[in-house]
Amino acid sequence: MKIEVITLFPELVEQVTRHGMPRIAVGQGQLALSTRNPRDYSTNKWRRVDARPYGGGPGMVMEAEPLAAAVADAKQAIGAAKVAPKVVYLSPQGSRFDQRWAERLSAEQGLVLLCGRYEGLDERVLAAEVDFELSLGDFVLSGGELAAMVVIDAIARLLPGVLGDEQSAVNDSFSAGLLDHPHYTRPEVWRDAGVPEVLLSGDHAKIARWRRQQALGQTWLKRPELLDGLELDEDSRALLREFIATRR
Ligand SMILES: C[S@@+](CC[C@H](N)C(=O)[O-])C[C@H]1O[C@@H](n2cnc3c(N)ncnc32)[C@H](O)[C@@H]1O
Repeated sequence: MKIEVITLFPELVEQVTRHGMPRIAVGQGQLALSTRNPRDYSTNKWRRVDARPYGGGPGMVMEAEPLAAAVADAKQAIGAAKVAPKVVYLSPQGSRFDQRWAERLSAEQGLVLLCGRYEGLDERVLAAEVDFELSLGDFVLSGGELAAMVVIDAIARLLPGVLGDEQSAVNDSFSAGLLDHPHYTRPEVWRDAGVPEVLLSGDHAKIARWRRQQALGQTWLKRPELLDGLELDEDSRALLREFIATRR
């Protein structure tokens, strides 16, 4: 997948592929990240890309033309894909970015991520160029860069072969609509706390069942609303009932 990020802070966004899964994805040739600075598309000698808002009020607004020109070049650079790459504007007003969005975007061949600053972008560039607006949550960041980095990280770990063990993405929270089960590692006793017996049993069927029950239980404890959207089979319902009974 090719991702082009349009940002006033390219050095910040480029950090995302220096570590962890995005770095591995780049190393494996699954991900190519490029950045593009709207200032390079400014037509004034000060390389300004923002101006005062019509109607007055505080702050500055990013101008449409340098952004549109950067988007056009980004799309061309992604090029080879048969379908035009989707343009995503990271924005507090967007749909909430979640694992479903990460899965959906990871299936694209190319993406253009547009990072705002100041008061945001001239509204007309949104109408002309943007396919999706995505938000990290109901809070306001000072720029779209951290949001773009989050999106890149979440996508990179879903690209084929990037996670060492393919199962780990399948078991991750939200992949199957549930939170992940608890994990334990050495030592077997830490500050007087042991590891659940079943995990030491070597019985893989029992372990899988315990993990399923824990995933259901953790979801019930921490994010019960996620269960409302799931059609659980009878076995899962029984496992959850048993988990709940141990908590009462
Ligand atoms: C200070 S914000 C502008 C906020 C805008 N005036 C508003 O209230 O909707 C500057 C930029 O940060 C980014 N941003 C801020 N909050 C975000 C969030 N929750 N998710 C994704 N991007 C965000 C957007 O790219 C935005 O253009």
